[in-house]
Amino acid sequence: MASPTFPVLPIQKFARRNAPVRRPTEITRFSYDDTHKLRHDSSSLKTYYTPELDTSLSRGFKTFVKHDDSVDEHLDGLLEALAELERKTGERVKVDIVTWRGMITKLMTLPFDLRNGFEMNAIKFQDTIFIEENHAHKQSSRGRSDRRQDMMSFWGYKFESLSTLPRNWDDCSRELIENRDNEVVSNEAQFCSIVKTGFGNVKIVIGGEVDAVWNSNPSTSTPPIYVELKTSKSPSSNRDDVAFERKLLRFWSQSFLLGVAKIIVGFRDDDGFLRSLQEFETQSLPGIAKRSGRCLWDGKLSIDFTASLLEWIKGTIGAAEEGTVWRIRWKANGECVECVKTEDSSFLSPGFVAWRGE
Ligand code: A3P
Ligand code: MG
Ligand code: MG
Repeated sequence: MASPTFPVLPIQKFARRNAPVRRPTEITRFSYDDTHKLRHDSSSLKTYYTPELDTSLSRGFKTFVKHDDSVDEHLDGLLEALAELERKTGERVKVDIVTWRGMITKLMTLPFDLRNGFEMNAIKFQDTIFIEENHAHKQSSRGRSDRRQDMMSFWGYKFESLSTLPRNWDDCSRELIENRDNEVVSNEAQFCSIVKTGFGNVKIVIGGEVDAVWNSNPSTSTPPIYVELKTSKSPSSNRDDVAFERKLLRFWSQSFLLGVAKIIVGFRDDDGFLRSLQEFETQSLPGIAKRSGRCLWDGKLSIDFTASLLEWIKGTIGAAEEGTVWRIRWKANGECVECVKTEDSSFLSPGFVAWRGE
């Protein structure tokens, strides 16, 4: 039997649907410490504190402690945090879909970036569809990186390290604040927020990394004011402006999904020196893309498209038997998203399955 398909083109057919979206609400949070061990707390949450301009983002590249991403971590951290929440509250998290934020970002950006293929694995378990990235596909499509690419990737982490403090700024010594450039850069530690949100009639739980908090740490405001940090090349031509405006779609969808309110962009030159900073309110980005008149992306269309696609995934996998692992696939420059049944065994962590009593 042919696999179910979801035709993506023409994109305009999804417009004017006005799909309802829920405002994301945080249900729990967790941290990975500097050895990447999971902790059920906010210990790895950083506080944003303005970095020094004209600093080199390359400094410390040789001592960079880089997390080994060749190991497939599946949904393990997210599921462990959900099990802990369920233990604490005595209530089960009941939604249609559970996944990492990166998966929904791929769906939201697809209409305006048809060249980026993806493969995800999905399984229905106790009436919820769990979706993860297909790790083998990710590794094989990435290609071998060269030193320049590794360096550019380091710049992003170095910017985070220069722009954050481990706790509230008034609890940090002047020395700690001024010593940020000498800190060893590592991406082992992470703070993750887990939110409940929704698109159309699909309820979702999404987990994702949050770079920093804007005000008090741990956050006392509801919702917390979270900050996403990004680096980008200082635009110096019309072409650069177009490239930056395209990037804003990814910045916006990533942050929109978790309810991250602010995005701080560190603009750098070609040699990796931090030259300027710009603060954006996440909710203002679709307006920026609209007003430029370049028609590179449209936030509302992205939401309407994602709602329709998620409703289709819910309908397709949700109607089938439990336990089958599906591949949700988009081939670069293709026409349809496909849902293909596989013979793969479940990728859900045994600890979570045991907790749920199966
Ligand atoms: P930039 O986004 O400033 O380039 P995030 O922005 O999602 O918090 O990720 C932090 C940094 O991780 C990025 O900073 C980038 O340096 C690095 N990074 C994230 N995804 C990457 C990828 N797919 N390849 C290489 N580096 C990546
Ligand atoms: Mg991050
Ligand atoms: Mg970031």
